[in-house]
Amino acid sequence: MNGWTMDEKNKKRIIDGGREISDTGFEKDLRPEFLSDYIGQESVKEKLKILIDAAKLRGEAPEHILFCGPPGLGKTTLSHIIANEMGVNIRVTAGPVIERAGDLAAIITNLEENDILFIDEIHRLNRSVEEIMYPALEDGVLDIVLGKGPTAKTFRIDLPKFTLIGATTRAGLLTAPLRDRFGAVYRVDFYDADSLRVIIERSARILGIEADKEGVLEIARRSRGTPRVANRILKRVRDFAQVKADNRINAETAARALEMLEIDAMGLDNMDRKIITTIIENFGGGPVGIDTIAASVSEEPGTIEDVYEPFLIQIGFISRTPSGRKATEKAYRHFGFERDIPAQDGLF
Ligand code: ADE
Repeated sequence: MNGWTMDEKNKKRIIDGGREISDTGFEKDLRPEFLSDYIGQESVKEKLKILIDAAKLRGEAPEHILFCGPPGLGKTTLSHIIANEMGVNIRVTAGPVIERAGDLAAIITNLEENDILFIDEIHRLNRSVEEIMYPALEDGVLDIVLGKGPTAKTFRIDLPKFTLIGATTRAGLLTAPLRDRFGAVYRVDFYDADSLRVIIERSARILGIEADKEGVLEIARRSRGTPRVANRILKRVRDFAQVKADNRINAETAARALEMLEIDAMGLDNMDRKIITTIIENFGGGPVGIDTIAASVSEEPGTIEDVYEPFLIQIGFISRTPSGRKATEKAYRHFGFERDIPAQDGLF
């Protein structure tokens, strides 16, 4: 997944929830450290608090945890919060980075008792790595095979007790044996505009940006329910306010900056528009398969599924049917299309 549009090769997509290198330091400054600072995801927070409190009372590491949901909604942040709340270290890595069993062995054997191992994009873990993970998760041992064929030797290493936290945008791609080893599975969802408003106000305070309530709301409404997007837009709007206005963010500067960034009133950008108009104009509104849509808009099918589609489904612009994706009546109206073929499936 890269989140870059093909026709805008060097232009970062602001509203892609996926993490970009330039977000790293910025996100760290804004990342809440404890559950009490974390805004939104109330039901996940409530369950997590019980999990953490119970583990603390028992003096044990919590069960293995899986976070799933679209990018930018707080899976990594929540994992850091768990480590802070438990007072343990967190070792951060990602599925595609752990190429061989030895890489995983090196990471796990360096953990201290009760530490957290965070694996982002855990659905992209290599199968052979995944297999040596099972006994590590279940029995606290690593079986390392040295050599090949009849002379191969197996070494068993006892591991410190640790908690694995996996994060994935594609829970459906996880193998059943891996999924079954997580005692707690939490789904993070898009944020409502009010939670985003509070998040943006908090970020503005931390970054020393002056923004009034309407300005913040304007950004919140167009951040596609995603704090990472909201914080990124806040930075861009701040630049705009500094150069073109009096350094203060209000509804007008926010709207003008967002217009310049080509993000519309619902938070949709050129790629969203392209996806919807392709379904409508080239495929009669659908149903059309994801691979066909991806080829038509020159994007990876996985990126469309991970990054663009979840929000378009959430706001009711795309529906997923067994035979493919369909543009809904709401999408037709938003982009000013007439529906000239009568609906046959009762959807509209
Ligand atoms: N920054 C990014 N996400 C946040 C959240 N959920 N709460 C507070 N600050 C955040």
